[in-house]
Amino acid sequence: MLRSRKPAANKVKLERSPAKPPPRDVLTQYSAGVVGMGLMGTSISACLLAAGHSLHCVETDAARRRSARARLLKLLTHAVAEGAMRENPSTLIGRVAISADIADLKSAEIVVESTVEDIALKRQVINEIEKAVSAQALIGSNTSAIPVTDLQSGAKHPERILGLHWAEPAHITRFMEIICGQQTTMANARRAMRLARGWGKEPSLLRKDIRGFIANRIMYAMLREAFYLVESGFASIADVDRSLRNDMGYWITFAGPFRFMDLTGIPAYAEVMKDLLPDLNCATGVPALMRKVADSGACGVSNAKGFYPYTPQQARQWEKLFIEFNYKIRELADRFPEDIGDIPRSSRKN
Ligand SMILES: NC(=O)c1ccc[n+]([C@@H]2O[C@H](COP(=O)([O-])OP(=O)(O)OC[C@H]3O[C@@H](n4cnc5c(N)ncnc54)[C@H](O)[C@@H]3O)[C@@H](O)[C@H]2O)c1
Repeated sequence: MLRSRKPAANKVKLERSPAKPPPRDVLTQYSAGVVGMGLMGTSISACLLAAGHSLHCVETDAARRRSARARLLKLLTHAVAEGAMRENPSTLIGRVAISADIADLKSAEIVVESTVEDIALKRQVINEIEKAVSAQALIGSNTSAIPVTDLQSGAKHPERILGLHWAEPAHITRFMEIICGQQTTMANARRAMRLARGWGKEPSLLRKDIRGFIANRIMYAMLREAFYLVESGFASIADVDRSLRNDMGYWITFAGPFRFMDLTGIPAYAEVMKDLLPDLNCATGVPALMRKVADSGACGVSNAKGFYPYTPQQARQWEKLFIEFNYKIRELADRFPEDIGDIPRSSRKN
């Protein structure tokens, strides 16, 4: 059963000091909602439950609705087995309700919309969420690329609508981009930033919504260059993958690109940029290889068809290893938080 709305005083507390995560006992009084229990909605729900929220999930597909609790329990149980969570999964599962009706979200103070990437559907879902929740409740859309300003148009209270961009598996990764649309207020963005800290995230704030946000803009620039190198015959898919894993893969969890330049010497980058930037691919169309693979029906390991060949067994093994790696990298990253340089060595755990 959902807990009742917590007193307004807690909301004020959440807004006052955006840097610190709210204590768990505040989060346990905070009721949350998730709409869409697909791949991401399920791991987002696991994250919110693990953070202490009581939760209401909405899913229109009957089969997905029926399997949602079991899928959630599996993620939470695995998180405990990996040592990432101490709470009893059965207790946490007792704090979730699942239904088909968005009106059931009435007591939610933060709702995460995680339906499919379709602007008309997302707008309609947000409209229904607004009818259900209070005027102060935050509404975050887990969109990959739809401008938040477009999702705000026609809303009753657009100032509390923002983008909440999660990365899969959402209960493990520290990634979160919080995106302001034109009408989002900074006070609401700060509320979301603080909540995100309570969910174990290291959130980034995007003050204006630009297509693709931060990480996707940079990742797609990288993907375009990767396709260019393969399609032009400079390197194979495996060679591109191997270079990136062993170069960027070794530092990117520790330092972003700017910190990395600080660590490795700025002048060389300025020098290389002069000649290399004009040489990089800047095509605007979908690469032919991408088109061919996508048109063949390949979804990746989920249907054992991708850029690499897989037997169904190999595909399952890759999925399993990816989750295992996520736990390991999270464990490592937690030992090296972003403000590591500001912490005296003696007070560090490792
Ligand atoms: N998959 C990723 O790695 C990833 C990463 C970041 C963001 N996203 C974004 O997250 C969103 C969800 O992605 P996903 O991969 O989980 O998709 P998905 O297709 O696995 O899940 C979407 C779910 O929403 C449900 N749904 C559809 N309409 C609904 C409605 N009106 N009410 C309630 N439920 C409804 C569907 O039945 C489905 O279960 C998308 O916008 C996607 O772009 C995905």
